[in-house]
Amino acid sequence: MALELAVILGCAIAVSFILGIVFALPRTHSKKTRRLGAGLLIAGGVLSAGGMAWLVWSVVDFFSNTNFSKGRVLRLRGRARVARRALGAGWADDAVPEVSGLTTWQRTVLGEAWMTSARMEHASVPAFAKLSLRLSAMGAPSALLEDCHLAALDEVRHARRCFALARAFSGVDWTAGPIPELEQEGVKPMATGSEEAWARLARGSLLDGCLAEGVASLVAAEGARRAADPVVRETLSVIAEDEARHAELGWEVLDFALERGAGSAEAGLRRALSELDARSTPSLPPIPGVDEDFLARHGLLSQAELGHWTRECIQRTRARALALLEPGLAPRADDGGGGAPLKSPATV
Ligand SMILES: [Fe+2]
Ligand SMILES: [Fe+2]
Repeated sequence: MALELAVILGCAIAVSFILGIVFALPRTHSKKTRRLGAGLLIAGGVLSAGGMAWLVWSVVDFFSNTNFSKGRVLRLRGRARVARRALGAGWADDAVPEVSGLTTWQRTVLGEAWMTSARMEHASVPAFAKLSLRLSAMGAPSALLEDCHLAALDEVRHARRCFALARAFSGVDWTAGPIPELEQEGVKPMATGSEEAWARLARGSLLDGCLAEGVASLVAAEGARRAADPVVRETLSVIAEDEARHAELGWEVLDFALERGAGSAEAGLRRALSELDARSTPSLPPIPGVDEDFLARHGLLSQAELGHWTRECIQRTRARALALLEPGLAPRADDGGGGAPLKSPATV
């Protein structure tokens, strides 16, 4: 449908400009005809600007609805949040991918993909800060707190690299803006001993840690395997390895919650299990002007592949979580790794 709309829009723009030139330029035409021609030229300009805005918006919408390099989710009042867009310095390292040979449109698409990833990676930093506060309040052991802070530092590095790639591909000096919702959230008193607190810790750990970081790892590893540019490949490889470790941290937090929160944490985990399927990748229309091979060569997976790796991760996450609730269901070593720790596609 998006492709058909793009074709119709392109035809309308071309017809407006051609008729506009035919009617407006020859001095032999009457004033009325030349005025009609000028009107058609203006309409062509407006349609071009609108079409470009629509195309860019469709790319923004596409990438913000995929699982590309998504890690631990910053959830505020039940909604995933990321930083606003901003121009300036402060959130990019010095990585430079190869951009020669790419059209302006291809660079826009790739820039937007990395921008989406950068904002998600950036949001994972306060997400781990929030987790650290919660774990501290609930009396977690030092090893969990240490891993939590190390993971936050990983996310700082991921965000810097993703912003650098977004800037290089788009040619725009993007950086991270504020997250106003985080400021509005403030420091809320935490009912740390309540049943709901343990249930929320268990549920959040499964969905936003084990699953989200697990999907991020699998998708980044597959992207790295397909990427042609060495800078993109190295970036995705590092992200894949780090996100797999973060997913394991999610499982450790879950162990802690089940050990201390007992029945309350179990109830939270069961609630999360019932929500797993809803985390599937939505089906989206293709981006006009770029095909799946082009995206794959730049480390971006198609919708079908994203869906495959998300379903794979949901399946493994469910098996491993069920084994925690019912030890008798623990997966065997020869069951294909259904409940085993997540490994990248290159190693599974
Ligand atoms: Fe992560
Ligand atoms: Fe990350």
